[in-house]
Amino acid sequence: MTVRKAIFPAAGLGTRFLPVTKAQPKEMLPLVDKPTIQYGVEEAIASGIQEVIMVTGGGKRAIVDHFDRSVELEHYLQERGRADLLDILARVDRLSDEVVITYTQQKEPLGLGHAVWTARLLVEGEPCAVLLADDVILCETKPVLKQLIDAHAETGATVLAVRKVPPSQVSRYGIIATNGSRNGLHEVTDVVEKPIEADAPSDLAMLGRYVLAPAVFEELGHTDPGAGKEIQLTDAIKRTIGRHHVVALEFEGDYYDTGTVPGYLRANLMMAMKREELRGELAPLLRELLGD
Ligand code: UTP
Repeated sequence: MTVRKAIFPAAGLGTRFLPVTKAQPKEMLPLVDKPTIQYGVEEAIASGIQEVIMVTGGGKRAIVDHFDRSVELEHYLQERGRADLLDILARVDRLSDEVVITYTQQKEPLGLGHAVWTARLLVEGEPCAVLLADDVILCETKPVLKQLIDAHAETGATVLAVRKVPPSQVSRYGIIATNGSRNGLHEVTDVVEKPIEADAPSDLAMLGRYVLAPAVFEELGHTDPGAGKEIQLTDAIKRTIGRHHVVALEFEGDYYDTGTVPGYLRANLMMAMKREELRGELAPLLRELLGD
């Protein structure tokens, strides 16, 4: 079955970014000048998604406003003849024409798994993609979500996006166990959320892209809180293994982890250096700071 819908869980509190996230969604923090969630929505559209389901919570109004039209701002720019800026607004505006965006509320931030489960009625029993806005992944040849959707079309399985991480970092991620790979896809035999280094079954970490088979939603309904007292998506996926096919794809693309302050700063710097108009100013500054 084609994957037509994508969930964006965006109801978390973003505590690692306080105070900026006190009254502002983490998902609206920019990489240079574009909110991380917009990168995700653009990726979903480029991957053929037809409906985006945003799971939001208190204090997330800015996400709704971002994907809405701002007639006042348009009027202001029109009066001043700023066609260049109107064009930027039009590009954001077009996103909500290319895909239907619906919103649902997670009333309490009870974890990623709970956020995904909150969207179940809108998913209507279909296989469904999940994108975490703070994992920005750029790939010029094929968007990473499309890579996952193609793997789902081939296997009918739940598909996890994975990448090798240094052993010292496994405790930050969900880690898969695998009994081998075929055509670039790992057969997943177990998933462990944030293991200590000695217990990690591999160095393949799950990053923020999934295609979930309907069985995962059934499991989410009766998954108890796990690590960090939150309902973990990993636990629900784990419970489907054995009864349902779960595979992991080592995706292609440039991955930016914007969910931590150092990762966010690194991503901004790297993205800024890719922009010609900014590189000219930044490169001498960096050289100066490094005393080169
Ligand atoms: P994170 O753990 O990265 O986000 O969840 P967080 O909890 O907001 O951030 P910290 O750890 O306090 O700094 C990944 C994604 O899942 C969403 C978040 O909004 C983020 O986009 N999420 C997380 C929910 O929607 N609901 C939750 O209960 C938890």
